[in-house]
Amino acid sequence: MPTSPRFWNLIAGRYARTPVADEAAYQHKLAATRHLLSPEMDVLEFGCGTGTTALHHAPFVRRYTGIDFAPKMIAIARGKATAAGQSNLSFEVARIEEWTAPDHSYDVILGMSILHLLDGKEAVLARVHRLLKPGGLFVSSTVCATDMPRIVTWILPVGSALGLLPLVRRFSDSDLVASHIDAGFVIKDRWRPGPGKAVFLVAQVP
Ligand SMILES: C[S@@+](CC[C@H](N)C(=O)[O-])C[C@H]1O[C@@H](n2cnc3c(N)ncnc32)[C@H](O)[C@@H]1O
Repeated sequence: MPTSPRFWNLIAGRYARTPVADEAAYQHKLAATRHLLSPEMDVLEFGCGTGTTALHHAPFVRRYTGIDFAPKMIAIARGKATAAGQSNLSFEVARIEEWTAPDHSYDVILGMSILHLLDGKEAVLARVHRLLKPGGLFVSSTVCATDMPRIVTWILPVGSALGLLPLVRRFSDSDLVASHIDAGFVIKDRWRPGPGKAVFLVAQVP
């Protein structure tokens, strides 16, 4: 059964109000991504949440589309885009697994804090690869649960069973990199702010 947006709809308001857990790492990822963007680019971000990252990057590209399967997340994102008057930015309610755009539509695709939440990251990586133009870039930040302290790997499934946390798929940093390579990407950048932290990757379609 595909994962449900229920958890994310429930927490959308709180998610929007909660400060980023590691501001320094977030700023580093924003800067590293911004460095890859240019004004003629078309960008897709999936699992965009309440649109914070999209609002940072949209002013630097031609067109920026954020998608998320939780309507409450998208409602907040749309409100922020309207308030900012960012006319090249749009948000849609959609699952990445079902997002239909012609092959080679995008210069850059972002998937921030989402690959570990997917039923099948391999199928999504193959889809992302198809959606990118030759030379296109996939930027991601991913929790690699098997590299986290053992106590956290116990807490995650319990929190998920209680409905307090989303279901986090368990894989390692090296599994993540291997999945990208299997999908046909070349890894251009790999950065981890510290042990157990999310892995930031920039992968390129050759
Ligand atoms: C951890 S939040 C990350 C939000 C945002 N990218 C950020 O970094 O703050 C994960 C987001 O992915 C969305 N999501 C989870 N699975 C999805 C899927 N299959 N397709 C689209 N969105 C999904 C959730 O609704 C949620 O907003």
